[in-house]
Amino acid sequence: MEPLIALRGVTKAWGAAGSRLALSRVDLDIAEGEFVCLCGPSGCGKTTLLNLIAGLERPTSGEVTVRGAPVRGPGPERTVMFQESALFPWLSVQRNVEFPLEMAGVPRAERAARVERYLKMVHLWRTRDSHPHELSGGMRQRAAMARALVGEPSILLMDEPFAALDAQTRDVLHAELERIWLETRKTVVFVTHNVREAARLGDRVVMMGTRPGRITRDLAVKLARPREANDQDVTTLAGVIERELKIEIEKVIREELDDAWTPAGGGLPGAAGRDLGGGI
Ligand SMILES: Nc1ncnc2c1ncn2[C@@H]1O[C@H](COP(=O)(O)OP(=O)(O)OP(=O)(O)O)[C@@H](O)[C@H]1O
Ligand SMILES: [Mg+2]
Repeated sequence: MEPLIALRGVTKAWGAAGSRLALSRVDLDIAEGEFVCLCGPSGCGKTTLLNLIAGLERPTSGEVTVRGAPVRGPGPERTVMFQESALFPWLSVQRNVEFPLEMAGVPRAERAARVERYLKMVHLWRTRDSHPHELSGGMRQRAAMARALVGEPSILLMDEPFAALDAQTRDVLHAELERIWLETRKTVVFVTHNVREAARLGDRVVMMGTRPGRITRDLAVKLARPREANDQDVTTLAGVIERELKIEIEKVIREELDDAWTPAGGGLPGAAGRDLGGGI
């Protein structure tokens, strides 16, 4: 079967004469309905890869296709959700969620029905008249999720959407996202630093390395759903992912810090669930 999303030999270079390789010859196939987590240290090109699929960036060489057609720019089939909700502060939750439908010229009655459906899906219907500043971080990300879903894209691209939330709120939103995914069967590409989050959510965990940014491992996750945050299998898998990524992260630190740096105690401290590579 043809993949829904395909990257073929994708390279993205920045800097003078393309001296810095954010991504080097990346090949990746994503099937319709898959939940793929991209996990790797800071700077390994996760956001770049997501932006290429979104059509917000163009590859330096290679090709990104969706349903076999080259991606030439953003499109309604693909929506992106970021770490910051990017809601309009002057609009109510309801109007924020309605906004993309207005832009797309969807008739009023259908807009109202769709906004109601998706606000109910994220449990914000009662809060629809509030403005973003009146909401908690978790509620803002719920609203952003409704806004990403309301156009009924087949592909949802999520760039660390829960990274700024506290651990408890994040656990709740993992369960919500998993439920919504089971209900809607979107294709999800979810970027995260957090190994536990990747193990909790993904059907696949695509691990990335850096200098140059590339895929180092593609791990199929066969755990049953719905999963639980404290599921032993999730914890075990998070440990496996973490061990693999630790090597890459140490490489980044070694290149960024003085020559004399050595990992204390034989390696980075490694409680599974830590955010890896942030703030290095
Ligand atoms: N607009 C840009 N101009 C120049 N260099 C860029 C640009 N965007 C990204 N880069 C570089 O490309 C590399 C990959 O960046 P990217 O943001 O994709 O990494 P990331 O894996 O998302 O990192 P993080 O986990 O910190 O979000 C980095 O070296 C970054 O400095
Ligand atoms: Mg990023």
